[in-house]
Amino acid sequence: MAERAAPVGVMDSGVGGLSVLREIQQRLPHESLLYVADCGHVPYGEKSADYIRQRCRHIAGFFREQGAKAMVLACNTATVAAVADLRSLYPDWPLVGMEPAVKPAAAATRSGVVGVLATTGTLQSAKFAALLDRFAGDVRVVTQPCPGLVECIESGDLHSPRLRQLLAGFVEPLLAAGCDTLILGCTHYPFLRPLLATLVPGEVAIIDTGAAVARQLQRLLHERALLADGPARETAFWTSADPHALLRILPLLWGKADCVQRLPL
Ligand code: DGL
Repeated sequence: MAERAAPVGVMDSGVGGLSVLREIQQRLPHESLLYVADCGHVPYGEKSADYIRQRCRHIAGFFREQGAKAMVLACNTATVAAVADLRSLYPDWPLVGMEPAVKPAAAATRSGVVGVLATTGTLQSAKFAALLDRFAGDVRVVTQPCPGLVECIESGDLHSPRLRQLLAGFVEPLLAAGCDTLILGCTHYPFLRPLLATLVPGEVAIIDTGAAVARQLQRLLHERALLADGPARETAFWTSADPHALLRILPLLWGKADCVQRLPL
């Protein structure tokens, strides 16, 4: 039986999930958090669903060994590939996945055209097609895979001229199609909000799902009487690549350089 004080495991292919971890920490400051960055296998966006499922099984097993009371897939690509598999493996374990914010975007758009920036894996998945069927209604949804963005962010590049050019090339067709709402359908992309703001007109809304994921985690923990009430322990980080590389980038994306350990094989 899980205890209130047990930690919550949060994972991503790399550092993108830190944008979700931040929302979780703000909303649930009493929760102790474990974060796994699967940097040895990033990017997930161009890998097969089977490969990603294996990685997620490994990381879920690790969180369970650490006594995690819940898991958050802070990665859209991992969610489409692996959330169903993990739910069938661990039916009683609270598990939060994430998906591009099509529903709120369709409700918010005034031009009737919405753009989605996401990985190839997310955009090509059956789960994303089902999301469009369910929530797009009359709204036209224009999708844009963004190969290369994740690698820039993983290397700590949030502003370079090369990145700016790459991002502009992804955003321009969406603006040309008349999008007034852009969905950030990959957890790495919120780190590019400042750069994006220089590329899109101010009236274009940019939305992501980090805060919604934190609310969903809160709901699930509350339903099971698992919300922590004591002080949180220091957030613990693991990576499947060189811990020094994550340690170097944490101050930029997280704010403080905590201790980082190597994820056991
Ligand atoms: N951060 C991930 C997502 O939300 C995936 C990035 C990647 O590894 O391609 O989709």
